[in-house]
Amino acid sequence: MQKVIVTGGTGYIGSHTAVALQNARYQVIILDNLSNSDTDSLDGIQRITGTKPEFIKLDCTNKDDMRCAFEKHRDAVGVIHFAALKAVGESVEKPLLYYRNNLGALINVLDMMQEFKIPCLVFSSSATVYGVPEQLPVTEDTPLQPATSPYGQTKVIGENIITDTVRANPQIQATLLRYFNPIGAHPSAEIGEKPNGVPNNLMPYICQAAAGIREYLNVFGNDYDTPDGFCIRDYIDINDLANAHVAALKHMQSGKHGINVFNLGTGRGQSVMELIQAFEGATGVKVPYKLSPRRTGDVPAIYANADRAEKILKWRANVPLNETLASAWRWQQKILKLK
Ligand code: NAD
Ligand code: UFG
Repeated sequence: MQKVIVTGGTGYIGSHTAVALQNARYQVIILDNLSNSDTDSLDGIQRITGTKPEFIKLDCTNKDDMRCAFEKHRDAVGVIHFAALKAVGESVEKPLLYYRNNLGALINVLDMMQEFKIPCLVFSSSATVYGVPEQLPVTEDTPLQPATSPYGQTKVIGENIITDTVRANPQIQATLLRYFNPIGAHPSAEIGEKPNGVPNNLMPYICQAAAGIREYLNVFGNDYDTPDGFCIRDYIDINDLANAHVAALKHMQSGKHGINVFNLGTGRGQSVMELIQAFEGATGVKVPYKLSPRRTGDVPAIYANADRAEKILKWRANVPLNETLASAWRWQQKILKLK
């Protein structure tokens, strides 16, 4: 079996991707410092696939620990690099923490790939690199805008660091995946998103408000220049997103492609209110909400043109929104029972 090193693999997107990789017969080695996850996800992955990935607890910013792990798995065919801090607000308050963690980890990953001649990298980038786009939907050629937070900067700078490294080292190829808004859980409810404390993101907040953990959801802004006045995003199923990583890895293994960049979204924009209504329709559960002022830094509307991923990776988002929302709710009920 071919080995893949997955940094940040106990986290939300990493754990779903570990399932997709194992289903595609890759051997998964997870490196994570558990700063925003726990090892329960490893048990969940095992219950779904029958195999528990090897887990090495380490901080990717620690080069000696990284060298030990990479030395042990120097025969890996690729690295999928998820490990990063991702709270936009926190990054504004603690920019150095974000630059040190997210960029330090990435530089170590690239160093190790050079040292041990590991040929393929998949990097978690974000739609945040498009800032406030002038045209919708955004394609990969839409000009990037200055990022609105240090977190966003780490994605823009991360993309640049990788591009320069691949240019200088043609034996390495890389795929930059620009995620839109991943939501939902594995249909089995064995793994899902576990936000720490009060959620920042809409989907976990909707679930917690529906479950009565939060009194109500604050809907940020109803006066945007959009059809219903609410912000628009492209909500993509987490399992679809996970599968795209396998497609990206296989594509790199099929030849020499240098650097590639793909939008991962559904191509459809959904307003906050549409998502609330779709959730209520899919689950039969009411979401208590209140209209609140706009949240600073929010982009009014953004959704993807994901044609390039369809053409080159033969990947597209398939899971219907109501199934995604039902899976998010099943997962929410499951974690309530575990508490
Ligand atoms: P997550 O927090 O669930 O997973 C990230 C994992 O990385 C966690 O398990 C955390 O413990 C680990 N980690 C962080 N810093 C580390 C370090 N220095 N060393 C080792 N492990 C470390 O987040 P996620 O939603 O799964 O996001 C995965 C990636 O996708 C991140 O790079 C994130 O920026 C990016 N991304 C996420 C979204 C989203 O909406 N979830 C959108 C765009 C991009
Ligand atoms: N929203 C609410 N109430 C909430 C939370 C969110 O109304 O309690 C709204 C937001 O205003 C926004 C939409 O729901 O209109 C989506 O918000 P999220 O926080 O779920 O997602 P964002 O699109 O703001 O954030 C995403 C990623 C970040 C990334 C950011 C950059 O989660 O990693 O895009 O635009 F940095």
